[in-house]
Amino acid sequence: MSNLVILGAQWGDEGKGKITDFLAKKADYVVRYQGGDNAGHTVELGEQQYKLHLVPSGILNPGKPCVIGNGVVVNPASLVREIKYLNDLGVSTDSLIISDRAHIIFPYHIEIDRLEEEDRGDLKIGTTIKGIGPCYRDKIERSGIRMCDFENRSSFEKTLRHNIRKKNDLIVKYYGCDPLDEDSMVKEYMSHMESVYRYVTDTNVVMRDALKKEAKILFEGAQGTLLDIDYGTYPFVTSSHPTTCGISAGAGVNPYRLEKALGVVKAYTTRVGKGPFVTELDNEIGDWIRERGHEYGTTTGRARRCGWLDMVMLNYSAEINGFSSIALTKLDTLSDLEILKICVAYKLDGEIINYFPASLETLSRCEPIYIELDGWKLDDVVKAKTYNQLPKNARLYVEKIEELLGLPADIVSVGPKRGETFTRKELF
Ligand code: GDP
Ligand code: IMO
Ligand code: MG
Repeated sequence: MSNLVILGAQWGDEGKGKITDFLAKKADYVVRYQGGDNAGHTVELGEQQYKLHLVPSGILNPGKPCVIGNGVVVNPASLVREIKYLNDLGVSTDSLIISDRAHIIFPYHIEIDRLEEEDRGDLKIGTTIKGIGPCYRDKIERSGIRMCDFENRSSFEKTLRHNIRKKNDLIVKYYGCDPLDEDSMVKEYMSHMESVYRYVTDTNVVMRDALKKEAKILFEGAQGTLLDIDYGTYPFVTSSHPTTCGISAGAGVNPYRLEKALGVVKAYTTRVGKGPFVTELDNEIGDWIRERGHEYGTTTGRARRCGWLDMVMLNYSAEINGFSSIALTKLDTLSDLEILKICVAYKLDGEIINYFPASLETLSRCEPIYIELDGWKLDDVVKAKTYNQLPKNARLYVEKIEELLGLPADIVSVGPKRGETFTRKELF
């Protein structure tokens, strides 16, 4: 098997970055295919923490070709910053490759994201204000600007000026705000584009050649299944497909070549932003998990909402994505709790259901039905050098999830570092 897809099974922040970095040593390519710098993937190597937003997490393996596919929306200012951040930490970005078909995020997308959020009032989505939704909207309505457009500098500038004027019209007339400064934006973004354009190429050709030579490709998802524009808790979602279906559209690889999908599952559930959350712990246990698990957003620093593991949601996620197995992360975080709960079904208007409702109004009426498991001690987790050395109750927790999901946990992660990872079956 030569291709492996890594996907978030919940609402993002499952530890995709850590798992991608862990598996990247065996891959020939690491490919991002959707989202933008709304993603925040943290990887820890030794004492150093790396926070990645656009650059694939394979970059910490020197020389590894890392592809930003056509389905990603790229803010060149943010990419320039991230490249500098990595280079300053001694990480080379020479192996970065950006699709010429990727759409570009400009400051007007960010400003409109911010204004729309304000305008929504109580119906606020809680976006990262990175301009993601407005940029994908332009792509779909066919007014976006792509990386390849920079080949012809003068027509790029002309289209950019045209778009700025149109967006300023909206900003001034509808929102009653000051217009963005056209000349300074053009100057700044022409310069950022000059910096990133050296990485731009036709990544379809790169992928085609990789497939031809049976190279090993690792696809790194951003966000998570429940943030998918179609399958997630709409409208409290992102504007792309963080699910398997997004890969062929966003990476230039046909779906028949995608072989295995690894769902990254956090041992409990977290969510940033708004929207219903059936197993949410709006109490001292939730607060305890947040502190123990450092559950604060990598991109925005917001406190993540925390709750028990939800198998109704995970089974839904596994079906949509076709997971072949899972990587269970942050098992260590749950240590020292006396009792752990796992939601195995929902109760809706007195009836037991085990499907994930589309309507948020229905979902918010669902009550979790839990099973309880005994806890274990952190000291015993820290001592373990193999999966089998984990405390018995920790293994029972993992094995209960496997049973409820009908899938093996091929990877179990017990800390943020590469070494704190147990591989139970080689995936790649
Ligand atoms: P991503 O967006 O899915 O890549 O996840 P984030 O990086 O946003 O959030 C996961 C956080 O948990 C990061 O700070 C990781 O370093 C950390 N992490 C990943 N796996 C583990 C684990 O098994 N245990 C602990 N304690 N931390 C982990
Ligand atoms: P990673 O890749 C968690 C959430 C936002 C908001 C919704 C829409 O680190 O897992 P957007 O800015 O995308 O329009 O916001 O999606 N969101 C994430 N939540 N992890 C992420 O990425 C996220 N990216 C977006 O909080 O609720
Ligand atoms: Mg994250």
